[in-house]
Amino acid sequence: MDKVYIFDTTLRDGEQSPGASMGPMEKLKFAKQLELLNVDIIEAGFAVSSPVQFDAIRMIADEVRKPVICSLARAVDGDIEAAGKAISTAAHHRIHTFIATSPIHREHKLRMSKEEVLKRAVHAVEYARTFTQDVEFSAEDATRTEPDFLCEVVQAAIGAGATTINIPDTVGYTFPTEFQKIIANLFDKVTNIDKAIISVHCHNDLGLASANSLAAVQAGARQVEVSVNGIGERAGNAALEEVIMSMAIRKDIFPYEYGINTKEIYKSSKLLISIIGIPVSPYKPIVGKNAFSHESGIHQDGFLKERSTYEIMTPEQIGRPSSEIVLGRHSGRHGLKVRLKELGYELSAEDFDRVFVRFQELADKKKAVYDDELIAIMEENTGVQVAEIYGIQQVQIVSGNQAIPTATVVIEHAGDTYEEAATGNGPVDAIYKAIDRITKIGVELEDYEVTSISAGQDAMGEVSVTMRRDGHTYSGHASSTDILMASAKAYVNAVNKIIYMEKKTTGGSKNQVNIEEIKIKY
Ligand code: KIV
Ligand code: ZN
Repeated sequence: MDKVYIFDTTLRDGEQSPGASMGPMEKLKFAKQLELLNVDIIEAGFAVSSPVQFDAIRMIADEVRKPVICSLARAVDGDIEAAGKAISTAAHHRIHTFIATSPIHREHKLRMSKEEVLKRAVHAVEYARTFTQDVEFSAEDATRTEPDFLCEVVQAAIGAGATTINIPDTVGYTFPTEFQKIIANLFDKVTNIDKAIISVHCHNDLGLASANSLAAVQAGARQVEVSVNGIGERAGNAALEEVIMSMAIRKDIFPYEYGINTKEIYKSSKLLISIIGIPVSPYKPIVGKNAFSHESGIHQDGFLKERSTYEIMTPEQIGRPSSEIVLGRHSGRHGLKVRLKELGYELSAEDFDRVFVRFQELADKKKAVYDDELIAIMEENTGVQVAEIYGIQQVQIVSGNQAIPTATVVIEHAGDTYEEAATGNGPVDAIYKAIDRITKIGVELEDYEVTSISAGQDAMGEVSVTMRRDGHTYSGHASSTDILMASAKAYVNAVNKIIYMEKKTTGGSKNQVNIEEIKIKY
């Protein structure tokens, strides 16, 4: 079987996009995750661009031993020397050198003739070969280059020793059928093309980066340059997760091997988000919040009968927690009944009708109805209430543009008080870390929202948080004129619900839960 090599450029093209820059330690941490993901090549940076970039590539070369470690270099001797030095200690190394070939770039950016560009390309490849046997050459803006000139450059670069030829759609301009023709033309006209792997590098300006990359694979490309979450210049690069899962799901169209361990995809996406602080859209394929969520009644009904009715892949395939039935205003009776059963409630037809009406009233007012809110509806029915297991007593904050945000939190719990302090990215983060130290409940904060519920300088702020734990979503709410206090209380409110609900779901018959017992035990 043919193999499609995965060249990850999250740490180079991705990292150079606005707001996504990373320090050397962060780059190293992410490179280690890319190794677990089993990418074939890591483009670790652009060595000549700064000493920090150089050091980061060097550290990755020293510590990440399985994939090929690559540095970018313009077709300039100084760049190639820096790249060569930065990758020299890698177990497997590559230099990726490039020059623009399109008339627009030749004329306006480089101010070079075709002959000069050709000469520079050949020299760059030959010089790079003095540092490593593995040299990739890119014809920048290839998709806007005259087809005959592109063939000429590719032929010359392979002749000079390039082992991979990359055809970038630098400005995200091409279209799948057109890109296939560009690749096919190269296979047709370049006589030494069998001596190199043809690679593609697509940008997403028209939302076609993944489609164009996959179309090129169909036309014979055997390396695809991608980035996790699709980060990169402007609208980004082809997203690793989209390209890989397309090949995984449509093996009938892509009967090719690839090395990626798909179970590491979700973790890689989450790690990147936590490092650069740029979230993905909820609608982002594969890794977005909604990618495996079902809300409409018809979809929930079909999915609950047979998941393949509305899912072409499983979240488990990418190492993600299970699919989610989101109960909201579009949900039907079947979805609610199944969720209540999972929570331990089996209702008579009459009780269910009553609960369904309450559920619809709530769903009309909210985006989604979470498990804890369903329990509250059930509790209205059974007359019990969530115990206040933990209660915020004091919150003290040190913050400001010259201070590391630090929070000290005092919490009351079962008649005792507990105090902890923590630092964080901001005051709210510090508060939540201090609370976590006391409660020792491992949660993932999914959403945090502050809204003003009155006017003026002493306005009340309402804070809502949503948290995830073991595949369940919980909400917490609180209001105060002090937003930080409201933040602390909302968080603890959700933690109380988690403890309460987990107690119920592990403590035998959930409908006969003894609140006193919970209060005493916690
Ligand atoms: O988009 C592009 O053309 C690039 C090259 C350096 C490969 O990033
Ligand atoms: Zn690029």
